[in-house]
Parts: sequence; C-alpha cells; structure tokens
Amino acid sequence: MGIPWGMARRFDLVVYGASGFTGRLVAEYLQVRYGSSGSVVWAMAGRNLEKLAQVRAQIGAEADVPLIAADAHDGAALLALAHQARAVITTVGPYQLGGEPLLRACIESGTDYLDLCGEPAWMARMIRTHHRAAEASGARVVFSCGFDSVPFDLGVLYLQHEAMVRHGKPLPAVSARVLVMKGGFSGGTAASLLATVQAMGEDPGVRADMRNPFALTPGFTGPEQPEGNKAAKDDTDGVWSGPFVMAPINTKTVHRTNYLLGHAFGRDFRYAERMSFGVGPAGEVRAKAAARNDKVQALLLGFGPTRRLIKHLVLPKPGTGPSAEEREAGRYRIAFTGTGADGEAMTAVVEGDRDPGYGSTSKIIAECALGLLHDVDPGSTRGGIWTPGAALGMAVIPRLQERAGLSFRMSD
Ligand SMILES: NC(=O)c1ccc[n+]([C@@H]2O[C@H](COP(=O)([O-])OP(=O)(O)OC[C@H]3O[C@@H](n4cnc5c(N)ncnc54)[C@H](OP(=O)(O)O)[C@@H]3O)[C@@H](O)[C@H]2O)c1
Repeated sequence: MGIPWGMARRFDLVVYGASGFTGRLVAEYLQVRYGSSGSVVWAMAGRNLEKLAQVRAQIGAEADVPLIAADAHDGAALLALAHQARAVITTVGPYQLGGEPLLRACIESGTDYLDLCGEPAWMARMIRTHHRAAEASGARVVFSCGFDSVPFDLGVLYLQHEAMVRHGKPLPAVSARVLVMKGGFSGGTAASLLATVQAMGEDPGVRADMRNPFALTPGFTGPEQPEGNKAAKDDTDGVWSGPFVMAPINTKTVHRTNYLLGHAFGRDFRYAERMSFGVGPAGEVRAKAAARNDKVQALLLGFGPTRRLIKHLVLPKPGTGPSAEEREAGRYRIAFTGTGADGEAMTAVVEGDRDPGYGSTSKIIAECALGLLHDVDPGSTRGGIWTPGAALGMAVIPRLQERAGLSFRMSD
C-alpha cells in the first residue's frame, strides 16, 4: 500500500539508480551543489541498500541522507517510493528492460519523472500506453534529460525563439552540426544500445519506430527528412559532415517538441543532425570513413554472435565509465543553423563543459528536475509525457547556464 493521496511529499528529488555510474554522479552533484540538508531535500534509491550506503559515504553525503530500497520490478515498492517524492530522477537503464514499472508508479502517484532514456522505440510505446494516464494524474514525465537530448532539443528551441524575435516566423529547417565532442561512454549506455539493436532484430515494430523520425508524434507525420547517414559537403561553407550517433534519438525528440508545442516550428519543419569533420580533403576522408563505420557497426551489432562477443570483450561493464580526469577534460560544441525570413543565415551555438555523457549529463538532469519544480509554469506544463524542450522550454536555460555548465548564444 502506498502513502495516501494528498500527504506532503518528503523529498524534492529521489535519485533512483544512485549506485550506478551515472546515478552516483547525479547524487554527487546534488551533494556538492546543494549539500545533504540544504534547500533541496533529496534521497538516494536503488535495489541494494548496502551499495547505496557505500556510495553515500564516498560522495561525502551525510549519513542521514535517506536511502530507499526498491527493485525495478517491484511495483509496490516503487509506488511507495514515488509517493514520497515531488520528482524522481531515474538512471536505471536499459529502460526497455525494466523502466516501465517506475514510470507507471510515478504516473499513478502524480509524481514528476525524469530519465536519461535514449531508447526511442521504448519511448514511443510508453507514450502510446501511458500519455493519457499522465495527463489525468498530473505527473509530468520528461524523457531524455541528458546529453541526449537536452542540448539539441533546447538548441533548436533557442534558435527558433530568436527567429521569432527577429522575423516573427520560425525557421522552416534547422541543421545541427556537432563541432566538438570529447568524452567516452559507460557500461549502461553500451547495454542500452545493445538492447535496442537486439530488439530491432527481434521486433519489426521496433525497427519501424527506430527508422521513423516521427515515431514520437502519434497521429502526425511531417515531410521527408534530410538524409542522415551519408558523408556530405555543405554548399555554403564547404564543411564535410557525416552521421552522428545520437541523431536517431535527438531528431525524434525535436519533432515531438514541435508537435507538443502545437507545431510552433511549422508542420513542414525539417531537422538534420550531423557530425562535422572539417573542410578540404582531410574532412572528406574523415566524413566518408564515419559513414562507412556507421554501416559496418550496424551490420556487426545486428548479428547476435558478434554482438555478444563485442559485449564481453570490448565494451565497458555495467557500473563503469570514463574516469574523473576524462570527465573533467571533456566538452562539446554544437552549431544550429537555419535561414531566416530575410534570407540570411542564423546560427546558434550550444556548448557544454565536462564530457557529454556523464560529467555534463549528471548536472543537466539534476537541474532539469529542479527547473521542472521551480521554473516552469505548472499551468502550461501539465501532466503528460513531455520532451525537455516542450516541458521546460526557454525557462530552464538561465538555470542550465548558471549551474550546469551549458551556454547558449547566437553567433551570426
Ligand atoms: N541520455 C544521456 O545522455 C545518457 C547519458 C548517460 C547515461 N544514459 C543512460 O543511463 C542509463 C544508466 O547508465 P549507467 O552507465 O549509469 O548504468 P549502470 O552504471 O549500469 O547503472 C545502472 C543502475 O541500474 C541499477 N539497476 C539495474 N537493475 C536494477 C533493478 N532490477 N532494480 C533496481 N536497480 C537496478 C543498478 O543497480 P546496482 O548498482 O545495484 O547494480 C545501477 O544503479 C543507461 O540507460 C544509459 O544509456 C543516458
């Protein structure tokens, strides 16, 4: 039995998965920035209390920061957890293997939910199954609150906001180029990618969702989108670009943001997201190599035996990821460009300090959760399954700039 409706929530935030690689960084960020008994009341949760207590001591949190035990498959324990929190941050992935019970518990208890999901087919299924219930309960669910997809989703929103200010019209097309991205990846990210590839092999519905840029906009399909997985040279600046690994996730989120905002970017909006490899022959060679590697990796990962071999021999194990030095030395820069109503190009640049996946992501999700609680008008962001851009919008940008090491600026 959960806590009765209407009872005051004990915690602003509960970090679920705080013993994992990314969850621990989120808890550490809360400890370093807000302390154990400061303005933000938070708790750590997971399936193993002993491990959570160890992490609590290692990150320097006080011994009275509460620990909550709940297995990802234990609906009753998750409901009791959700009832105590205003918002739950979950870093327990792969989400497609065990994320639904917590999502359901948060929706049932009207608790806000934020995750780091980069698994679009699972998100598409959750939207189809639970969006209405979240609308009814008032729970605000925000998927993909890490490097994928916050800098991309908010980068597009920021540029479109500027287009509206300058021209009173949105840009019909935006092209994102990842100019710099320095950082590694963790066991949990590898496991989530492999779970998606495996599900694609087994389920044609998952394959269809992964290939559909409009998989997260039920009942709406926009125009054909730019080709993403080939090497290409930009006509205007001669820069070579190639496929960007996160684009299949981010593009779907950007289109859902547009859809949730009542097609504020237009019903014919086109969005491309690519990795930049520079100008000249060197740029061309690197862009073409990236396009080739993309194809080879897809083939290798799609084949069960090689997938298992790669998992055991090459990929980081669960609970592991880039070192503190690597996280500190990491950074990223993304440029968003479109042509305004006056025919002039407009460019916005988003930058993040720390490595994208962990150092930056842990700050981003913590501040998105606090932004949802403090910066957002509850009258416009009501219950439902949201994207970061549509739920938090421009309101969260000052917080991300002041606290999460992100910067947003126009560069034209
Ligand atoms: N969107 C982004 O930019 C972004 C960035 C980083 C990570 N991610 C995603 O975040 C997720 C986590 O990655 P990670 O590297 O932090 O993973 P990880 O280190 O393997 O951590 C996974 C966490 O899940 C917990 N867990 C596993 N099974 C559970 C169960 N049955 N009940 C309760 N807890 C359970 C683990 O608990 P134990 O400690 O007890 O094993 C651990 O705390 C992945 O899905 C990854 O793709 C996304």
